[in-house]
Amino acid sequence: MSKATLDQQAAPQVAKSALEKQAWEALEQSIIYYQDRPVGTVAARDPELTALNYDQCFIRDFVSSALVFLIRGRTDIVRNFLEETLKLQPKKRQFDCSKPGRGLMPASFKVESSHGHERLKADFGEHAIARVAPVDSCLWWLILLRAYFKATHDEELINRDDFQQGIRLIVELCLVARFDMYPTLLVPDGACMIDRRMGLYGHPLEIQSLFYAALRSAQELLLPTKHNRYFVDAVNSRLEPVTKHIRENYWLDTHRLNVIYRYKVEEYGEQALNQFNIYSDSIPFYQLTEWLPPEGGYLAGNLGPSQIDCRFFAVGNLMAVLSSLSSKEQSQGILQLIESRWEDLVGDMPMKLCYPALEDQGWKILTGCDPKNRPWSYHNGGSWPVLLWMLAAAAQKTGRPEIGKQALKIAERRLVEDEWPEYYDGKNGRLVGKEARRYQTWTIAGYLLAKELIQKPSNLSLICFEDLGII
Ligand code: GLC
Repeated sequence: MSKATLDQQAAPQVAKSALEKQAWEALEQSIIYYQDRPVGTVAARDPELTALNYDQCFIRDFVSSALVFLIRGRTDIVRNFLEETLKLQPKKRQFDCSKPGRGLMPASFKVESSHGHERLKADFGEHAIARVAPVDSCLWWLILLRAYFKATHDEELINRDDFQQGIRLIVELCLVARFDMYPTLLVPDGACMIDRRMGLYGHPLEIQSLFYAALRSAQELLLPTKHNRYFVDAVNSRLEPVTKHIRENYWLDTHRLNVIYRYKVEEYGEQALNQFNIYSDSIPFYQLTEWLPPEGGYLAGNLGPSQIDCRFFAVGNLMAVLSSLSSKEQSQGILQLIESRWEDLVGDMPMKLCYPALEDQGWKILTGCDPKNRPWSYHNGGSWPVLLWMLAAAAQKTGRPEIGKQALKIAERRLVEDEWPEYYDGKNGRLVGKEARRYQTWTIAGYLLAKELIQKPSNLSLICFEDLGII
């Protein structure tokens, strides 16, 4: 495998700090080559731990690297990634449940060599721990395709038949008629960044935010051809109901809490106020009334029959801000909450993936007694430095750049010294995660990306969407 150095094609840059140079070198070392072309980055390069599947390129992990590459002018690697992963997407309709469905994108892939011949081997969840299906991959793929187009204006690639078909297949997979009547996307457990059992079965916020951003991307990328018309109409007609549903039913602030507290139950028919039949006893009102600041709020983690998951999930909330799924006021409220509850949500390492942690019986029931997700560790209340870029971006977008800068300052104190860990543990995020990999690529890329977004906010356009002015 040959390896061209990244700097060969990098655009001229503003002076970079020693830390940034170190991070860039580490990112460079994580690149995967396939038939002599760079096609992605490995999830982690920890010399001391068994690789498991961390030597693969995960679609969701690569997005952070890809955005850095796009900003720094290394668009070739992103183009190669998009082309190669598109080839992995199944195109034929078939009823064999052991095969991935048409339109799906893999969770990860790796390069396999035999007798001097290389091929890409994809994992659609059939090898993954607990065999979880990666619903978010196809959504991230569309979001990245749009970012690539924004950065390069490469119409030739976007307009190609195979790319237009790939977009259509993802839209079809997401919008096909299903058993439920919600405008949101119904997904199995472990379908996103939290790829273990954490009580996210159903309509988890992270997927809905990515779903919305992916629909917005498809809307921009689908050509107005006869062949595409049906899909364009389907996308257009879904955006408004999803937006309304999320903004009205997922939003939690002091006012909403009051409404829910006094809900009547067992209402039938069109006039029902408590549409999801939420029982008051299921909501931790007393903790929440103390925790919620007067001005702030957030989108709940999940919503279903008699269920509002009141945990705060960072990816879903931050991506809602970036995609404008949340209204302007709600986005301000989310950043206000983060600032007001800084110790809980940011602490010593930006930032918590989910807050608060599930403990005791809740941990037993919802995680299935998962020791990796014990309270205040990993997905269950652990802190993930990759979230730094989403926080910095959301802070910039809402006109509160100081929040991103402060978070970056906190992260910089530790990341290099701790050798770029995957995650941190503890209520304040002070411990390097119990089973965290070192040299985790999206930690490195997340840091570089946050830096780039803060230094040059115009880069935000790669990942942000304007409000459609729906409500
Ligand atoms: C873990 C994370 C997942 C990530 C993968 C590779 O499984 O939960 O989100 O994609 O590691 O870093």
